Amino acid sequence: MQTNFMVYYSKMNNVHAGDLRDISSVSSKNNREHDITGALVQYQGYFVQVLEGSRADLSILLSNLMRDPRHSQIILAVWDDLEERHFGEWSMEVVQLGREAEPLIAGYGFDRLFDPAQMSGRELWEFVYTVAGPEAQENGFVAA
Ligand SMILES: Cc1cc2nc3c(=O)[nH]c(=O)nc-3n(C[C@H](O)[C@H](O)[C@H](O)COP(=O)(O)O)c2cc1C
Repeated sequence: MQTNFMVYYSKMNNVHAGDLRDISSVSSKNNREHDITGALVQYQGYFVQVLEGSRADLSILLSNLMRDPRHSQIILAVWDDLEERHFGEWSMEVVQLGREAEPLIAGYGFDRLFDPAQMSGRELWEFVYTVAGPEAQENGFVAA
């Protein structure tokens, strides 16, 4: 079985705290069932998500995501072979970022205004890993 990972970003559509909780609980359950791991970051009206899993399962999830009205303008930034899982402990970690992320995004050249379209696929992956990966807490970021 071939495993892949993907990174996409999208614009949130009127997502409330309750929606985020729903996304988190449905995702944790579905992803666990399909051995999909990853993390979802919500920041400045954008979602950025990394997902790891079998090629077939990721494809199905991507087509579901494309149809989900809670976000739009979905841009797939990376789809590649997965050498090893980096979010292995999580079926879905959800992190809501606020102003504490400003120093981090300054490192990507942004003056307070985040714009994933300006970031390489590698940078997007790193961003999610930093705030929602296994070392997120040491980096000063916590899960919602
Ligand atoms: C930003 C965002 C991220 C999501 N991430 C996942 C995910 O990681 N796994 C998942 O199963 N569903 C995720 N969803 C929900 C799916 O779009 C879809 O609603 C769900 O997979 C359908 O599940 P169901 O067929 O069990 O109803 C996400 C939705 C949004 C808006």
